[in-house]
Parts: sequence; C-alpha cells; structure tokens
Amino acid sequence: MHTTASLKKMKASKDQIVMLTAYDAPSAKLSEEAEVDVILVGDSVGMVVLGYDSTVPVTLEDMLHHAKACRRGAKDTFIVTDMPFMTYHSSISETMANARRIMQETGSNAVKLEGNGIVIDHTRALVQAGVPVVSHLGLTPQTVGVTGGYKVQAKKEEDKEQLLTDAKAIEEAGACMLVLECVPEGIAKQVAEAIDIPVIGIGAGRQVDGQVLVYHDLIGYYSGHVAKFVKQYASVNDSIRDAIKSYTKDVKHHDFPEEKHVFEPDEKVTLYGGS
Ligand code: KIV
Ligand code: NA
Repeated sequence: MHTTASLKKMKASKDQIVMLTAYDAPSAKLSEEAEVDVILVGDSVGMVVLGYDSTVPVTLEDMLHHAKACRRGAKDTFIVTDMPFMTYHSSISETMANARRIMQETGSNAVKLEGNGIVIDHTRALVQAGVPVVSHLGLTPQTVGVTGGYKVQAKKEEDKEQLLTDAKAIEEAGACMLVLECVPEGIAKQVAEAIDIPVIGIGAGRQVDGQVLVYHDLIGYYSGHVAKFVKQYASVNDSIRDAIKSYTKDVKHHDFPEEKHVFEPDEKVTLYGGS
C-alpha cells in the first residue's frame, strides 16, 4: 500500500498517480484488483449513488458508511475519504472530531477537504494531529451554491494568482496531495510546478502528477450528464439493462428457473459464501 511519502516520491520520479473513486466493497475491490494507486471515497457518492443532484446533502454518516464498505473491499489500497459539506468549517475542534471518526471508524488513510481560507488553517491543525490531508481546489462542488455553478475555474488572471497562492499555502500547511478540478491545462501545469506535493487533476489537463475520475463516469454506469473531461471506458448501463430485460423475459416465459437451479430434498449444496 502507498504512503504519503511514496506518493510524493512518484511525483519526484514523474510516475503518474492513478486515483479513482469508489463507494462500496465491489467498486473498491475491482479498483484494487486493477491496481489503482489511490481510492477516493468521494462525496460524489451523493450524486452517483444516492440520487441527490449535488454533494451538499451528503452527511458524515453517509461518508462513514461508504468508506467502511470500501475498506472492506480494498484492504491494501491507500484510501482517501471526503469530509462532507460543512463538517470542517465551524471550528478546529469540530473538524478534528469529524476527521477522527473518518480515520478511526473507517480505516481510511487520509481525508480530503475542499477550499481555501479557514480550511487551510484546519488542514494545518489536522496534519499536526497526525491526519494526512488531501486538499481540493479549483472547482469545489460543495460551494456551488455560492460560486454559481459547475464551471471551469481560474480563467481570470487574479483567480489564477489566488489559486497559485492557495496551492502553496496548502502545501505549507502540510497537505500531502492536491486534487485540482476543472482548471485550464496551462494553469494546472503551473500549479503542479509550483509545489512538491502531487497534484491530481480532474478536468485539469495533461501536465499534472496524476488523474482522478469518478468510477461511474469511467464505466458508464448511470451518471447523467457526462462532462468533457471524462473518458468513458465502458458502458455498463447497456449490459445491466440488457441483463435485467433478459431476466424479466425469462421469468414471464417460465424460462427461469431451469432444472439446474432447483433443489431436491436429499441434495447437499453450498449457498453463497457460507456452508
Ligand atoms: O467526490 C469526488 O468524486 C471528488 C472527485 C471528483 C475529485 O471529489
Ligand atoms: Na468530492
């Protein structure tokens, strides 16, 4: 399993870091089998799994539930878990208490926090307490209510300067990685060059230290609108829908169950994983 040190070393040796979100045991297990470097239990769970239309409704309890399942599915992969909306702003002590639950109850290896300002102070406090922190800048979905939508960030000169200042500040505060979402490629490159911690891009172009995608976007599993920065490597929607249609048809036509699916009274069989 990676450590914050081995991930930092990957940046130094120009070895791209592969991050992918996961939300449950099977998605985490398949990600581990496919050898991703880092699993992110993203609060995108709210949109791609729980049916909300933003990440704002996601609670700490939701994140704990999903992160525990991911850890059970992927015991040997570095797991980062998102701190959800407004669980790391009010005070250092509340931030600490919430991060402690994520670290201790789920076995995650790090937490991720969106934003700058007070969040950078809280990042410093967490790191001092021994909690590895991943920062998230650029488009920060938890604040879309304030920022006014899902748009490409840091296009204006002053916003670019602010982003560079923030990136240096989060490194100085002790963050171990930076997720950079939806910024022009040239600016993301400047950010990656300005700091020594790995910059993991999503919609941040090719000149960063690694990439992250949302699991459901990558496999084409119901994710609604597909953003420009997504590459869909499969379309499991179609396979799943076809499978369910076949099942429905079989049941309606008495083609399932078949003889091989039925039990006889004297039969000894193993069901599920048990005995
Ligand atoms: O919640 C999430 O999936 C994320 C990634 C998009 C970086 O934060
Ligand atoms: Na997130």
